Amino acid sequence: MTESSTALRIAGPARLVGEVTVTGAKNSALKLMAASLLAPGKNTLRNVPDIADVGIMSELLRRLGCVVDFDPATNVMTIEVPQTPGHIAEYDLVRKIRASINVLGPLLTRVHQAEISLPGGDAIGSRGLDFHIAGLEAMGAAISFEHGFIIATAPAGLRGAEIELKFPSVGATENIMTAAVLASGTTIIHNVAREPDIIDLGEYLIKMGAQIEGLGSPTITVNGVKELHAADHSTLADRIVTGTWAFAAAMTQGDITIKGGRADHLEIPLDKLVAAGAVITSTPDGFRVKMDKRPVAVDVATLPYPGFPTDLQPMAISLNAIATGSAIVTENVFEARFMFVNELQRLGANITVDGHHAAISGKEQLSGAPVLATDIRAGAGLVLAALCSDGVTIVEDAFHIERGYPNFAQDLRALGAQVEVI
Ligand code: UD1
Repeated sequence: MTESSTALRIAGPARLVGEVTVTGAKNSALKLMAASLLAPGKNTLRNVPDIADVGIMSELLRRLGCVVDFDPATNVMTIEVPQTPGHIAEYDLVRKIRASINVLGPLLTRVHQAEISLPGGDAIGSRGLDFHIAGLEAMGAAISFEHGFIIATAPAGLRGAEIELKFPSVGATENIMTAAVLASGTTIIHNVAREPDIIDLGEYLIKMGAQIEGLGSPTITVNGVKELHAADHSTLADRIVTGTWAFAAAMTQGDITIKGGRADHLEIPLDKLVAAGAVITSTPDGFRVKMDKRPVAVDVATLPYPGFPTDLQPMAISLNAIATGSAIVTENVFEARFMFVNELQRLGANITVDGHHAAISGKEQLSGAPVLATDIRAGAGLVLAALCSDGVTIVEDAFHIERGYPNFAQDLRALGAQVEVI
C-alpha cells in the first residue's frame, strides 16, 4: 500500500451491533520481535497482528540477518536468529516505526554494538530518547550521535547497574530490560513502566532463560545470564484496539461483544464508559459493551498504566464531542497529541484547547466532512466520530489507522457501519 492511496469513506450515523475479535497487540508484537535478537535459533511468536508495522519490523530483522516467516492466516511468525546478527538499522525502515529503537538494547548486549538511525513514528510529540541513553550508559555503553544515527558500543559487554527512570517510559523500560538480560551482574530499574506490554515482553524473555523479577511493579530486577535460548510465545491481546471497540459501542449507542478483549487491562477506561452510561458485562472469552442512550460527558486525564492510556485519548475526546454535558480531557504523556482536535472540529465538534487541556462541549450529532488522520489513534478517534456524524466523512491518510487496526474497515462493516476503502 502506498502512503497516500487509502482513505476511508464512512456514511453516518451508525449503530454498531455484533461481535468483533481482537488479536495480538501491535505494541507488544513489535517488541517481542525485536527481543528475539537476544536468542539464537528459531523463535516462534503467535497471535501476531497482520499489520503494516509488523512487515516493517520483519524487514528490519531480515537486514540484521534473521530469517522471518509470517503466516497471516494463522498469525504465527518464526524468527530464525543467527549466532552473530548484524548491528545496523537504516533510516528507510527506522523512520517508519518508532518501535525500531527496541533493537538497540538487544543488539548492544548481544553483539556489543548498534548503529540505529534516529526513529520516527507517529507525530505525537517530541518523544525523547534520553532515558534510554542514560540507562544504557549507566550499564557501560558509549553512545554518540553521528549523521542521524545513534552509535552505541560496549566492547567488553554491558554490566549491571542501578537505574532510576525520570518518567515511567515504556520504550526506555523495554530497552534497558532487554539489555540487562545478557549483562554481567544485576540491574535494578526503578520507576519502570507497568504497561501489560512490559509484562508480556518480560515473560517472553523469561521463557528464553532470562532472570527477571518485579514485572508489573515499579521496580524490575534483572540478573544477567550468559546466554539465552529460542522460545515460543503468544502475543498479548491489544488493549488499545479493545478499548477502541468499547468506545465505539458507547458512542454509537451500540452493543458490541469484544472477543479476546481483556477488561482487566482497561479498568480505568471501562470505568469511564460506565460513568458515561454504558453497561459492561463479562463474557466467556471477553466482554460486552452496551449503551442505550447518548453518553454523558466524562473528564479524563491520561497517565502511565494503570492510568487512562494516552492512546485512547482521541476516543475520549470524540466521545465527549457527542455526549450530553461538557468535560475536560487532560493529556499528561505526549504534549502534541491534540493535533487531531482541528480535524474533529471540521466535523462540527465544540472543543477549546488550552495547553494540555481540551474542554469539550457535547453536541447531539456531528456533521460529516473530509478529515485527515494524523496518527494511528487520532485516525481511529476520527472514525468513531464519523460514525456519529450525519452524512459522509472521508478520513484521508487512513494508512495510519491500518498500522494499528488489522481489518478495521471489514470489522466496522460486520458491525453494521457503512464503510468503504477508497
Ligand atoms: C509507547 C507506545 C505508544 C504509547 C506510549 C505511552 C510503542 C511503539 N508506542 O511509546 O503507543 O502512546 O508508549 O503509553 O510501544 N520520554 C522522554 N525521554 C525518553 C523516553 C520517553 O522524554 O527517553 C517521554 C516521551 O517524550 C513521552 C513520555 O516520555 O512524553 C512517554 O513516552 P514512552 O512511554 O517512552 O512512549 P513510547 O515508548 O515512545
